[in-house]
Amino acid sequence: MSTLKAVRGTRDLLPPETQLWNRVEATARAVFSRYGFGEIRTPIFEATELFARGVGEETDIVSKEMYTWEDRARAASEKAQSLTLRPENTAGVVRAYIEHKLGDTGNLQKLFYIGPQFRRERPQRGRYRQFWQIGVEVLGPVSSGAESPIRDAEILEMLASLLDELGIRNWQLDLNSVGSSTDRPRYIAALREALAPVKHLMCEDNQRRAETNPLRVLDSKDPNDQELINSLPKIADFLDEASTAHFAQVRAALDACGVPYTVNPRLVRGLDYYTRTTFEFTVPDGSGLGTQNALLGGGRYDGLSEMLGGPKAPGIGFAIGEDRLILTLQAQALETTPTKLDAYIAPLGIGQNAAALALARELRREGLSVEVGDGSFRMKKSFEAADKVARHIVLLGEDEVATGVLTVKTFATGEQVKVDRTLLRSHLLIPSASKQVESKANEA
Ligand code: HAM
Repeated sequence: MSTLKAVRGTRDLLPPETQLWNRVEATARAVFSRYGFGEIRTPIFEATELFARGVGEETDIVSKEMYTWEDRARAASEKAQSLTLRPENTAGVVRAYIEHKLGDTGNLQKLFYIGPQFRRERPQRGRYRQFWQIGVEVLGPVSSGAESPIRDAEILEMLASLLDELGIRNWQLDLNSVGSSTDRPRYIAALREALAPVKHLMCEDNQRRAETNPLRVLDSKDPNDQELINSLPKIADFLDEASTAHFAQVRAALDACGVPYTVNPRLVRGLDYYTRTTFEFTVPDGSGLGTQNALLGGGRYDGLSEMLGGPKAPGIGFAIGEDRLILTLQAQALETTPTKLDAYIAPLGIGQNAAALALARELRREGLSVEVGDGSFRMKKSFEAADKVARHIVLLGEDEVATGVLTVKTFATGEQVKVDRTLLRSHLLIPSASKQVESKANEA
């Protein structure tokens, strides 16, 4: 019988790697709470129409990458409905904003999410069919200041702080403005016009994009087309006064905070809802991502709420590809060595198993992380097993149980001492370096 495997493009995350995932998520939560964000959890599947309207029918995501199915009616009172596994979370958050009338509070909504997303892409390193995003959305009525450039700069500054705090090195922030909903059609018309006489010189994909979605030509990585693409009109020349001023203020605030960025006029992003500020953070080649070097992306979506039938609610947000963040941390060798447990309790003989479990229960209740061995193990096996997972081994034989004085070995120093049960917790919690000092002081 053939063995079953995880579906192509999906994977299992196992310890100790999951420790790194948890550290990343804990750091993100801590940073977000310092900036006043609250968590939102939206469903993993939504009505297909949400993504068709929100992300855009013509985008790669909606036209070829979604997991969509017809959900059959189960009762006469129900209707069949087309449902889709969320390929991204922004549309779901804005749907929830509208559904729960969050705009009626008059307040700026500062929301974050951490969760899986699904896209049927060609799997490769850093690109999966189920992947994780850590994202943020800031939106609200115009009166809440949701449209202000300070919001754009603040989340970019927050991202810079988060990446620094996580220990990501050499990140680069690419920044652009794709203009308002009136600037963009003028730019697209100019692009079409500029592409018409030269598109036959381009690769097949770009010839098609020049017709269907000229903005996508700017994303093209085809080496032969780069020169032509660089000579195309730039969006900056098509921004109206308000969009130009908005972008200038975002940059001025970033300059004031000392957050470095590069203005990249070709950064248009692959989702239709973007207006004005767009951005991506990348890491250099050799940071573990191969060609998938975008760690995260985001931007403003001032018209999305209205596109989904809601009130005017300008917003801005980003989503970090958590899988890619982890790959980068691993490649940049910043992965912390898996933290070891405080103690491994080794019962000496099966007669001590029950006492060992009782001691483990006490220590765990005192807040220590503890693993319990098995009295059937030989001493050598217990030491080997303990050394793999814990900083100390606590030997528990008949004598120890009777006297309440335990033998404890610290692996980092090789030191083995007798410790009274009442002092065990503090002994196990002292870092090895201080223990050396402590034992030297005792010797003197
Ligand atoms: P996105 O650029 O489509 O934007 O995705 C954001 C990030 O998710 C990417 O930069 C990448 O790191 C990660 N990502 C995307 N697809 C995959 C994949 N197949 N495998 C692994 N990682 C992937 C959005 O999703 C927008 N909703 C971001 C946003 C929030 N804009 C405004 N608010």
